[in-house]
Amino acid sequence: MSELLNGAKRTHMCGTLRASDQGARAVVMGFVAKFRNLGNLIFIDVRDRTGIVQVAFDSAADAKLFEKAEKLHNEYVVCCAGAVRSRGSNINKNLPTGEVEILADDLKILSEAEVAPFVICEDVKAAETLRLKYRYLDLRRAYLQQKLIMRDKITRVVRNYLADNGFLEIETPFLGKSTPEGARDYLVPSRVHPGEFYALPQSPQLYKQLLMIAGMDRYYQVARCFRDEDLRANRQPEFTQIDMEMSYVEDSEDVMCVAEEMIKKVFSECCGLKFDKPFRRIPYAEAMARWGSDKPDTRFGMELKDLTATVKGCGFSVFAGAAEKGAVKAINAKGLGKVMTRKDIDACADFAKGYGLGGLAFANYKEGGATASFYKFLTPETIARIEEIVQPEEGDVIFFAASDKAQLVSDCLGGLRCYLADKYSLYDKSQFDFLWVVDFPMFEYSEEEGRLVAVHHPFTSVKSEDIALLDSDPLSARANAYDLVINGQEAGGGSIRIHDPAMQQKMFEKLGMSDEDIKVRFGFFVDAFKYGAPPHGGLAFGLDRLVMLVTGCDNIKDVIAFPKIQNASCLMTGAPSEVDDKQLRELSIAVQDKEEK
Ligand code: AMO
Repeated sequence: MSELLNGAKRTHMCGTLRASDQGARAVVMGFVAKFRNLGNLIFIDVRDRTGIVQVAFDSAADAKLFEKAEKLHNEYVVCCAGAVRSRGSNINKNLPTGEVEILADDLKILSEAEVAPFVICEDVKAAETLRLKYRYLDLRRAYLQQKLIMRDKITRVVRNYLADNGFLEIETPFLGKSTPEGARDYLVPSRVHPGEFYALPQSPQLYKQLLMIAGMDRYYQVARCFRDEDLRANRQPEFTQIDMEMSYVEDSEDVMCVAEEMIKKVFSECCGLKFDKPFRRIPYAEAMARWGSDKPDTRFGMELKDLTATVKGCGFSVFAGAAEKGAVKAINAKGLGKVMTRKDIDACADFAKGYGLGGLAFANYKEGGATASFYKFLTPETIARIEEIVQPEEGDVIFFAASDKAQLVSDCLGGLRCYLADKYSLYDKSQFDFLWVVDFPMFEYSEEEGRLVAVHHPFTSVKSEDIALLDSDPLSARANAYDLVINGQEAGGGSIRIHDPAMQQKMFEKLGMSDEDIKVRFGFFVDAFKYGAPPHGGLAFGLDRLVMLVTGCDNIKDVIAFPKIQNASCLMTGAPSEVDDKQLRELSIAVQDKEEK
């Protein structure tokens, strides 16, 4: 039977009691985390979100209370009161409260608990799927609670910083019109408009620009976004952005500086980092050439070396062929020859196959020279030239990627250097690497769609010096766009926007949209620019990713209270789920047989 609090008031949180509290009377409330009955003494650990404190029940001091305590089990919810006393020689050095315990003189059992489906402890053994099903139990663990506590702290630092800098927090609708950000929309059917749908926002992009046109000057929102896309370790279908926009800015630096200060505040207040320099600005072209990625992790070397010109026309047909139309590049895995087995090297070839390459060539620089099966096809001059570029030393392994698609070569080696760095611990995980990637191309060509698509989004402005390229060579036009990269992860991105209606129209046209398309999809947006639009720009950070980076965690699920799994379902609630026919009829929706799909 559950007891009532009956006026009992908590005096201390469990994790806060210290030696200096000895002699005080404490009332704590929480879950029983551990129960030990020694016959005439019972010890329980009481857990709340601040930590754990030991409570003792002594049969000699109060036999009736002891009898009541004997009924306790793990996860019962209790209110314990008593004097704080020293644990004498039984100090628990692993607990911040380990010098003291409460000698109970009162116990209220606020809620009994069935045996939990798994043992709730820090070195939990249960499978993740079981823990996600009972997420509210898993969330009792300090590991996950600390993540949510840090999430709260980061959000507060951000809110304070933005409020101090003149940003207004404004909410924008969840039920809206589709905003193209490259992913699929989650749609919500309308009951009163049969056959019509709202789209949940992939981001508040259009609304925040409209708020600038509305004269709000500076906006921000801790905004939930929804994207129906393939999930990865740092992606969820429903995630949170720190979304911001400011008026009267024309230069990327105007926005980047404000955002950079905010990020520095977050990392200094939440991880104690000190910053004495601005973050590096790396042009996109340089990031791709040196690290094979637009989100380079520069905590370690293994930069890409371009051998395309060197191997043109060489005797090794795989290289010579790729060099004609595509690229041949290499990375020098310094010292890894000493630790990598042949099997490990073959695993790298498999890694490359995952990118669509036929495999990887390698040269192992052992004592006495190189072992490389393909060197026999190359002249000594070509080998010498390659070595001049990749600078091999004894103990190094050089990996070579070749393809008639240059992009594949960069992507593969960019991925491989991260794979090797992780696998062989080539960098200090406690170190942070902050950088901006700037000067992104405005467009890329989508083979799938057979047209240009925007690398960021269609509301991004083109660098003024590249405007002429929009007509002559659009793929070379650079955007006023920037991404903040932390430890090789895209933490945020944004741009200076187009605020001239004619330019916005041109952009839509370049993206292959007809006048009709523009009118139907963005008519309201295009119209707004006719009535006075301040120059503006902004960006959005992924809050979940920031929490991951601050807490050094590599699973996005750990920083979200109720996350979804890989197939976008929720193991706790069972969402998504079928709905009854009545609901479907009201929405004028008929569901196709699953087999028919
Ligand atoms: P973008 O699409 O780059 O820009 O998103 C901004 C940031 O949001 C985070 N993010 C995600 N986090 C978790 N799961 C996801 N599925 C996911 N997708 C994105 C990333 C990313 O850097 N409207 C623009 C911003 C702007 O131009 O102002 C936008 O949404 O950290």
